[in-house]
Amino acid sequence: MSSQLSFEINGRTADLPLISGSEGETAIDISKLRSETGTITLDPGYVNTGACTSGITFLNGEKGILRYRGYPIEQLAENSNFLEVSYLLIHGELPNAGELEDFERNITRHTLLHEDLRHIYQAFPKGAHPMAMLSCVVNALSTFYPDFSSTDQKGVDLAIWRLLGKMPTIASWAFKKNIGQPFIYPSNKLNYCANFLSMMFRVPAVDYEPAEEFVKALNVLFILHADHEQNCSTSTVRLVGSSQANLFASIASGIAALWGPLHGGANQAVLEMLMMIHNDGGNVGKFVEMAKDKDSGFRLMGFGHRVYKNFDPRALIIKNYCDQILEKVGLHDPLLEIAKQLEQVALEDDFFKERKLYPNVDFYSGIIYKALGFPVDMFTVLFALGRLPGWIAHWAEMRQSPPKIGRPRQIYTGAIERPFLPLEARG
Ligand code: SDX
Repeated sequence: MSSQLSFEINGRTADLPLISGSEGETAIDISKLRSETGTITLDPGYVNTGACTSGITFLNGEKGILRYRGYPIEQLAENSNFLEVSYLLIHGELPNAGELEDFERNITRHTLLHEDLRHIYQAFPKGAHPMAMLSCVVNALSTFYPDFSSTDQKGVDLAIWRLLGKMPTIASWAFKKNIGQPFIYPSNKLNYCANFLSMMFRVPAVDYEPAEEFVKALNVLFILHADHEQNCSTSTVRLVGSSQANLFASIASGIAALWGPLHGGANQAVLEMLMMIHNDGGNVGKFVEMAKDKDSGFRLMGFGHRVYKNFDPRALIIKNYCDQILEKVGLHDPLLEIAKQLEQVALEDDFFKERKLYPNVDFYSGIIYKALGFPVDMFTVLFALGRLPGWIAHWAEMRQSPPKIGRPRQIYTGAIERPFLPLEARG
């Protein structure tokens, strides 16, 4: 195949190089398009536009493939744990025993929050959404720690350890704030997921040991959410970081982007949808018909994906895990049955088949979160905790290449030049 695309536009000829990725994908490098032709491209939602090259995660939406640094997600979910996968995403290789021990120790040493941060929680009204608190407090970290994240590797490493160490504490305190229970301090003798469960569900008056199967389930769910190449929130982190904003501010922006119901906020919206269908008598067919009617304003949350035009491999793993977890906790959740019926009806319906709409990562994850005892408004916070290493890895990768601030262009469609109109002449 030719290594360049040559074409003429506006009477000018452009020779644009074609580049190929390690999995054989090709792209037209349009870096010189405007200088050679005076023309730009237009691609709302960046459906066809690559923002960067990246060596972190590979997706194949047609085949339902997801790999972190070349390792299939199915093997990582089965054999690894969240901190090991975090190391892999950030550093590019699976750690040896010494590297993993150092990484875990460095993160564990940074789980505590500065005591003054407690006052920020007191300022939030009762019922404040935990995602708002998470984004706010993560951003506030940059007021407590001088920003070394743009100077040297030691500064970047320290900022990364602080974020990975403190996010579970920040998240659990947002939950405790809303239910009026005392904040629980981290316990450095517990592993990452057990410590988070302890800070979430322990109360000072009662001993609490997180169940092993809950710790395992959280590890699997965090691994499945850890990265997903150039999704909305990760692209946000890269764009904010491209202005040389510090790591805390960049991640706080990613948290804000993730909150949207079309993105990470979908896991909360799915549970609310399933509860609505359940309370309405469980007639899934009625809601599938509504989802097909654009005027209804109803969308089947947890269905569809920009990239996956086949099954989201993460949804398959989570769906199988739902049965295991519910059986382990001895729970029969009618919402799981509704979800399975909804999936079956939708996947047999031409509307969904024609549009290649399948369950995505958010469709079943909430069933497990609910079985683990998390309230619905904490679901997207759990997504953020899982996605943190991916955001960090992309921020670091973006900062390694020569810093080029992200600044898209546009096609102007507003008023052409016109003279100012004095107030009395405006009718
Ligand atoms: C995540 O990008 C990532 O990688 C994200 C993520 C990650 O790990 O970071 O995977 C996590 O965000 C998963 C997606 C969670 N969101 C939802 O579940 C919300 C419901 N889904 C959609 O709103 C939608 O499917 C998106 C946002 C996920 C994808 O939107 P696109 O690619 O812009 O597709 P679209 O909205 O243009 O839809 C294409 C067609 C439209 O119909 P037509 O105009 O062709 O007639 O499909 C229809 C849409 O109306 N459609 C749906 C639908 N999703 C798309 N119709 C009913 N229910 C749905 N859920």
